[in-house]
Amino acid sequence: MADSTRRQFLRSAGTAGIGLTVSVSKSTRRAIGEQSAPVVVPSPNEKPALLGGKPTVTGQWPHWPWVSSSDEEAVLEVVRAGRWYRSRSVEQFEEEYAALNSARYCIATASGTTALVTSLGALGVGPGDEVIVPPFTFLATVTSVLLHYAMPVFVDSDINTFLMDAEKLESAITERTKAIIPVHIGGNVANLDRILAIAEKHRLAVVGDACQAHLAEWKGKSAGSWGTTGCYSFQLSKNLSSGEGGAILTNDEAMADACFAFHNCYRKRTRASLEAKYHFGRNANFRMTEFQAALLLNQMKGIKERAQLRSDNAAYLTTLLASIPGIHPAKEYSGCTRNAYHLYMFRYDPNEFNGLPRNRFVNALRAEGVPCSPGYAPLNKEQFLMDALHSEPYVRVYGHQAIEQWPERNQCPENDKLCEQAVWFYQTVLLTDRTRMEQIAAAIQKIKKFAGDLQKS
Ligand SMILES: Cc1ncc(COP(=O)(O)O)c(C=O)c1O
Repeated sequence: MADSTRRQFLRSAGTAGIGLTVSVSKSTRRAIGEQSAPVVVPSPNEKPALLGGKPTVTGQWPHWPWVSSSDEEAVLEVVRAGRWYRSRSVEQFEEEYAALNSARYCIATASGTTALVTSLGALGVGPGDEVIVPPFTFLATVTSVLLHYAMPVFVDSDINTFLMDAEKLESAITERTKAIIPVHIGGNVANLDRILAIAEKHRLAVVGDACQAHLAEWKGKSAGSWGTTGCYSFQLSKNLSSGEGGAILTNDEAMADACFAFHNCYRKRTRASLEAKYHFGRNANFRMTEFQAALLLNQMKGIKERAQLRSDNAAYLTTLLASIPGIHPAKEYSGCTRNAYHLYMFRYDPNEFNGLPRNRFVNALRAEGVPCSPGYAPLNKEQFLMDALHSEPYVRVYGHQAIEQWPERNQCPENDKLCEQAVWFYQTVLLTDRTRMEQIAAAIQKIKKFAGDLQKS
């Protein structure tokens, strides 16, 4: 019985994956520390690890970042040249990153957060303004708004895609609204057609948060190249990394100049003007260093191959998981022509797992050797946000009444549900092979089969 179920599972897994091939170069195989011993997909009838069985996955998952001797060389060259301050490497990175994304301008920054802060600063966002954000995101999307003493206004999530529900966007706009920040969370692309059309109608800026969306595309064009600006992060976990770092893409020359000035103590783009007298302007030093740029230039060499590997494995995993009742992989809008898969996100329905709570499911999956996370808590309900809004400057600018009404105005019931159901895998899980995807599906099948026992244990 155990064997026939296993064969059945493998047969369905194999059939589902027909037509998908993963070609992985030798260097990629080395980087992911690929197992030389054959990897086994165990039967879903075997006891889950939390109940004393053997974990489904016993080998290592890929470490991150992938480091090669050429990374060391690139950084050493900068060290030896004493060229540590923003110069050739940063400029070359800006050129290459703009070209990679078919954008006209790129401004490298110290981080993704400072890319967002710079974009909003360059737009003149300040106290009294409102900026629209989604609630299923990393806190930096919102703290970049708070840093300008602007008011974040939340638009609920579309539970199927995990992204801002563009159908609910227009009703959140007021005469105070200055900008919209659609977030391409996990690398899945927000509904840019709808969002840009609404922004144009109301003459609003669109600052795309593409911090998790390297190489993601909307209708064949880089997700970060749409709208007023697109902001990226190169923090350690990201699909392209230099430990810390960020970039702004834009096709608008005036915006590029304003962002450059903002991130460079309001000194303008040309070398001569670095010596020029100071100008008034809200600004900061958010420059990228040469070390970061040198690493990024080198890391960019394998970016397309890694993106392809993630896409292929994610597509295969989706065919496997979609057949498990209670597991709902995040959907994409039809305009999303490439998902960056910084995260592989799905919803978990405990009703299909004998009532096994989501956190218990996550623990069981981790015990099976599959790294996963229950994802974000509802950002619109975070205490730090309430504290910010009740701080003296906010009360002074917006008044007690607006602050008191804020929680009611910013309810996101669909996102509350999403935050109870979400589970995600990190991008490194996808930098493996099809057998690993089958192991993930087998681990979930195992948990499903024993969900009642896991519930009691
Ligand atoms: C969606 C999102 N926005 C903004 C950021 C901020 O980027 P950084 O950490 O580089 O400041 C991150 C980084 O984790 C992110 O995931």
